[in-house]
Amino acid sequence: MNPGVDWRKAPRAQFAVVGDPISHSWSPVMQTAALRSLGRPDDYLPIHIPLDDFAEAIEHLRNLGYYGVNCTVPLKEAAWRWAQIMDPESHAYGAINTLRLPDRAGTNTDAPGFIDTLDELNIPPPGPVLVLGAGGTARALCRALYRAGYAIRIHNRTRSKAERLLDEISVAAEILDHPAVRDHRLILNTTSAGLSGETLDIAWGKPAKGVVAYDVVYRQELTPFLSDAKLAGCRVIDGRAMLVAQGARSLEWWLDVIAPRDVMLRALP
Ligand code: ATR
Repeated sequence: MNPGVDWRKAPRAQFAVVGDPISHSWSPVMQTAALRSLGRPDDYLPIHIPLDDFAEAIEHLRNLGYYGVNCTVPLKEAAWRWAQIMDPESHAYGAINTLRLPDRAGTNTDAPGFIDTLDELNIPPPGPVLVLGAGGTARALCRALYRAGYAIRIHNRTRSKAERLLDEISVAAEILDHPAVRDHRLILNTTSAGLSGETLDIAWGKPAKGVVAYDVVYRQELTPFLSDAKLAGCRVIDGRAMLVAQGARSLEWWLDVIAPRDVMLRALP
């Protein structure tokens, strides 16, 4: 995996993904495959930008001639502050993952990309959807789900954080302390528990036929959440689908093309 270049040493190129850390990102391999399949010679590079350097680094890339930049953790809020042109929906999220540097425009393709994946999985509203977690990811996805007409239930280790989240984004949802998996069409894990190898305290029971367990994280092996879900008999989906969906929408926004989603998915490790 490419470790990513320090922003001060970035070569001239057209596209990049920026974050801290950035070496884990699968976007360069995915977007490069997409660009080649569209017959374009452009480079899409992983560039390391610490949060404190964000504005200076992005101006530097702009001066080098970069056109499109995807922003990942922890830069999405800084990208939102930097952009001077934005659609109202992206503005409402308070975080964006896609910048167009020449005119300092930005958009959020994470949220609509996530909803695209539910359409592909044939999970229409109202669901219902059980959201696990109440951090930054849950915040964006609950808002996207709610706007798309899904019925949401939320469970978080710290209940008060779930209460605060719903209050802040003005979303009506039930908070469950002991959620039953079988009452839902989709179980969405937004927690970072899997990153430390920890499992979540959920009673899987015997899920109804067709229940989908979805983890927003992508990596080569199943997360503990998805392993548990698979054992219980759920269909399991990891963050690859979301990665492709947001990346495809970014490309379409930058280049006014139809992104080759199948090529992008096949390019992932
Ligand atoms: P992000 O912005 O990626 O969503 P975050 O804001 O740090 O990350 O949120 C992390 C979420 O994972 C929180 O909902 C957290 O639960 P708490 O609010 O109780 O802290 C959840 N989380 C992290 N580790 C967990 C664990 N081992 N078990 C259950 N939930 C966990």
